[in-house]
Amino acid sequence: MGSMGLTKGDRVAVLTSGGDAPGMNAAVRAAARVGAEIGLDMIGVEDGYAGLIEGRLAPLDIRVMDEAARRGGTALGTARSKAFATPEGQAKARETIARNNLRGLLVIGGNGSLTGARTLTDVVNAASGAKLIVGGVPASIDNDLACTSMAIGVDTAMNTIVEACDRIFDTATAHKRTFIVEVMGRDCGYLAMTAGIAAGADAVLVREAGKDEGQIVDQVVRTMQRAYGPQPAGASTKRRVLVIKSEGVQVESNRLKELVEAKVKTLIPDVDTRVTVLGHVVRGGTPTAFDRLLGARLANSALRAMVAGQSDFMAGWCGPGITRAACPWDPYVVLSPLDEVLAETAKLMRGDSDLARWRKRVFAEVEDILQR
Ligand code: F6P
Repeated sequence: MGSMGLTKGDRVAVLTSGGDAPGMNAAVRAAARVGAEIGLDMIGVEDGYAGLIEGRLAPLDIRVMDEAARRGGTALGTARSKAFATPEGQAKARETIARNNLRGLLVIGGNGSLTGARTLTDVVNAASGAKLIVGGVPASIDNDLACTSMAIGVDTAMNTIVEACDRIFDTATAHKRTFIVEVMGRDCGYLAMTAGIAAGADAVLVREAGKDEGQIVDQVVRTMQRAYGPQPAGASTKRRVLVIKSEGVQVESNRLKELVEAKVKTLIPDVDTRVTVLGHVVRGGTPTAFDRLLGARLANSALRAMVAGQSDFMAGWCGPGITRAACPWDPYVVLSPLDEVLAETAKLMRGDSDLARWRKRVFAEVEDILQR
């Protein structure tokens, strides 16, 4: 990861890419402020890799970023650039880097964005022979990246889901209803599970459980029977059932409702089922203090590491299973090579890493506990 680091006067571009995540603005603000303090020329790229291809760059305005840091989304704009995946797009992005004499690039985003960053780590400045210094900061509400215990945006998304579930609880309890609440997270059940535990859900359906349609329907029916049926001593009957379903589960929510209703029709005749798909509501909104701080601390360490000569890395938030020592700038921030981040993330998504196995085991253990 080592090379000649950024020095005073060097031009460093910052971009946000992929799905926006609350707290991205706080990360950009920190990069703008820390960079200015170090004497770097901090530039913002509009709309992620699309803006890099099209050469849409402008100096980062600290005042604008101060204002933006309190809000969700990303003031720089973002995109899922298809063009960047093509050789022509890559070549244009490299031209922008050369034409603007960029010495460093800080990428704030998820798996796809960091994969993009990885492809630019071999860019060399023709005049000086210096390699582009590339740093990454994890931002994705899905929490599907390895080498970080949390990505920017997860905490806010979790809080948004919990708040929505609290509201749904009120009406569900009033009507003695079952709700299936679908939440984002792509193929990762982390958000569904953690929000489910925090909200007091009765069941959480995640792709990682590996259940087929019939097993998922049975799980929901069992949860309803336990909730509305005879209760253990000392517990009163539940007046609602909340099922949180991660969007990665391969049964469409309305179909699940129909299949469940068909099964419970005779078993529990008086209970209605409703579906709420939270969708993009989960991704927007005011970032929590934690996400603002996480963004600031990760961006701070990433930029300082680039000054110290590190490149091709992601600055992650430490946590269980991350054994590498913390970086010198923050005892909670760990720098991992981008190659390792991408390889470990692929394993996590395949269910083939210690973290993936731990999550799967805990998800299974939690099933019975939530049903009580
Ligand atoms: O990766 C973040 C995420 O919000 C996922 O949870 C979701 O599946 C996806 O992005 C939605 O993407 P889009 O906004 O492009 O529809």
